[in-house]
Amino acid sequence: MRLPLDSKLPAVGTTIFTVMSQLANDCDAINLSQGFPSFDPPEALTDRISYHLKHGANQYAPMPGVPALRSALASKTLVEHGRAIDADAEITICSGATEGIFAAIQAIVRRGDEVVVLDPAYDSYEPSVTLAGGITRHVPLAIRLESGEFEVDWQRLQDAINCKTRLVIVNFPHNPTGAILSRADLDRLAAILDSSSAYLVSDEVYEHIIFDGQTHCSVLQHDALWPRSFVISSFGKTCHATGWKIGYCIAPPPLTVEFRKVHQFTTFAVSTPMQHGIADFLVAQPNFPRQVAAFYQQKRDHFCKLLQSTRFRFTPARSTFFQLIDYGDLTTATDTEVAMQWTRDLRVASIPLSVFCEQAFTGTRLRFCFAKDDATLTEAVARLHQPGSL
Ligand SMILES: Cc1ncc(COP(=O)(O)O)c(C=O)c1O
Repeated sequence: MRLPLDSKLPAVGTTIFTVMSQLANDCDAINLSQGFPSFDPPEALTDRISYHLKHGANQYAPMPGVPALRSALASKTLVEHGRAIDADAEITICSGATEGIFAAIQAIVRRGDEVVVLDPAYDSYEPSVTLAGGITRHVPLAIRLESGEFEVDWQRLQDAINCKTRLVIVNFPHNPTGAILSRADLDRLAAILDSSSAYLVSDEVYEHIIFDGQTHCSVLQHDALWPRSFVISSFGKTCHATGWKIGYCIAPPPLTVEFRKVHQFTTFAVSTPMQHGIADFLVAQPNFPRQVAAFYQQKRDHFCKLLQSTRFRFTPARSTFFQLIDYGDLTTATDTEVAMQWTRDLRVASIPLSVFCEQAFTGTRLRFCFAKDDATLTEAVARLHQPGSL
């Protein structure tokens, strides 16, 4: 007998990242769709991990994370954001930011609660909310007419918040648009949340990838936002090691207590030698995270220089390792059609922006990942130039 399987996530299929990466493989295309670097993490870091693999750090780590890594993160938070964090009571190492986001949502959201996300939104948010029994409310970002850049529509965000709102999720520096928040923006967010009892998840995985001399304004810096916040980040982005799936959550003690109740029974603990290796590396090279921005800015500039000879419209990304392009001067086809067609015919894979949104409002825009070596980026733009394509 076959039991009827009533899916808890009926709307969820295979993610676009998997679909596009598979299509890129099948078509032998350059894969600028999924966000992963084509280069290795620093050798000084992998050396420390190898060392710990060979020197006994191979059994369960403590549930909240290895003390040395939590302590290194507390030092980093003090230096970068001026906040003194209790490494024992406020930091938890988790299996990538994805697990951190999931654990925070499960810890906070109850059946029938509303959760506000800003579209385009990272794809793990809504399924995690649904599994917690919550309802996701999507608030689109606004698009600036002059530059095509995205920014928060504060009025729409305010209008979306009501007495049922349990959680707001923000992600700045923002994937896929590269939008960032200023100190004044954080003040605005704090003013909106002030009259509500909503918690905040701040997904800051691109905290160190921000360009043109701008600095990342973390929720960790904001006294009014901090007491209601889970701040989540990922070593995958900062260390060019997305495959390691190690991240962390910083939250005030009462929130961390609830977070750990979920984390404890989701993964319990994270890979021990990796944690020790990252801790050693952060202590030995505390400036490494701050060098990442210059590294990626050079990549962005290289990619944008190449794009200047195309008929795409674009504004150089302010952050992250993604560049948006608007192909609207070339065709009116939908972004998904164009992304698929260019992967098959031109052999360059990208991500259509509409997949990050409840209602397609992002027009003729595609996201390209420029975390690749310069030759790959050069070849990708050359392929986009093939006769008939541009
Ligand atoms: C905005 C955002 N949040 C979270 C994640 C997940 O990070 P991790 O790979 O550490 O789980 C990603 C990865 O692409 C991301 O872009």
